[in-house]
Amino acid sequence: MPPSEAFIRGIPKAELHLHIEGTLEPEMVFDLARKHALPLRYPSVAALREAYHFDNLQSFLDVYYAGAAVLRDASDFHALTSAYLQRAHADGVVHTEIFFDPQTHTARGVPMEAVIRGIHGALTEGQARLGVTHRLIMCFLRHLSAADAMATLEEALPYKELIAAVGLDSAESGNPPSKFSAVFARARQAGLLTVAHAGEEGPPQYITEALDLLQVRRVDHGVRCEEDDNLVARLARERVPLTVCPLSNVKLRVFARLEDHNLKRLLDRGLCVTVNSDDPAYFGGYVAQNYLEVSRALGLSQVDVTQLACNSIEASLLPDSKKQEWQAKIRAFAARAEA
Ligand code: HPA
Ligand code: ZN
Repeated sequence: MPPSEAFIRGIPKAELHLHIEGTLEPEMVFDLARKHALPLRYPSVAALREAYHFDNLQSFLDVYYAGAAVLRDASDFHALTSAYLQRAHADGVVHTEIFFDPQTHTARGVPMEAVIRGIHGALTEGQARLGVTHRLIMCFLRHLSAADAMATLEEALPYKELIAAVGLDSAESGNPPSKFSAVFARARQAGLLTVAHAGEEGPPQYITEALDLLQVRRVDHGVRCEEDDNLVARLARERVPLTVCPLSNVKLRVFARLEDHNLKRLLDRGLCVTVNSDDPAYFGGYVAQNYLEVSRALGLSQVDVTQLACNSIEASLLPDSKKQEWQAKIRAFAARAEA
């Protein structure tokens, strides 16, 4: 049975690949620019939105880092995170694991504490108000040096109780996971878990490096694993989750069309594939829109969507008891829809 929009929105799900800076909507860019008296290159919200056409990852990152420059104090990060949680809740998200990029902000003189406390305060409030649980994942910008990442890690360690894991994002090609082996070793030693973007634009070998050198729990994107059969077999055997972002992949031209996406093939090969929104303000949709559009483009069934939702919980950093609770709720939701 093809899943209805109500089914897709309503099924409980976790979101695991979401850059909080990527939820900055053009309206908020203008509000914050006004608040801080910052000049903008675009004359209007519509003109800014119109600029969201990208040829590849780098052309997106240039716009994304420019947009993030309006985030200046803890209340900005709080407002950004609260707005995202409201949208995620409306999309059936019951648990979210959020990336943030401290180097984008500390390089502009924003204190680490303002970034972390702003985001974390909104997450705590959101949990009380909406019941959405959360984890925070601090990403290192891989186009910067390993020494810069190490200094950022040390600066964040006083707040490590608020952070569950570290990750790796930004320009992938030419910046392999191996560049950050020592930084991730230090993070693990401090008790943090690890994830990494790999196999979005970079080769399958970067996925293997992320697993073997950074000891990641899951791989962000990972779609280029399909070029290496042995790697696909390993990911299936070890149930290494992939946090796939279908609309992002089309916007950044990893796949020409959504119809060409390999999500269904990877799901059918037994991989723990999940659906996520990446940078929804830039890529044309929050998580339910990603589920909806990829379901239509690839002809996913209600059973497939239920599997994706169960995978999102399995791939999360929640304790096993919570995972079992949510998976039972997901199955009960799907059974009610069948009846
Ligand atoms: N890839 C790499 N870096 C990023 C992304 C992405 O999709 N989104 C935000 N930073
Ligand atoms: Zn990403």
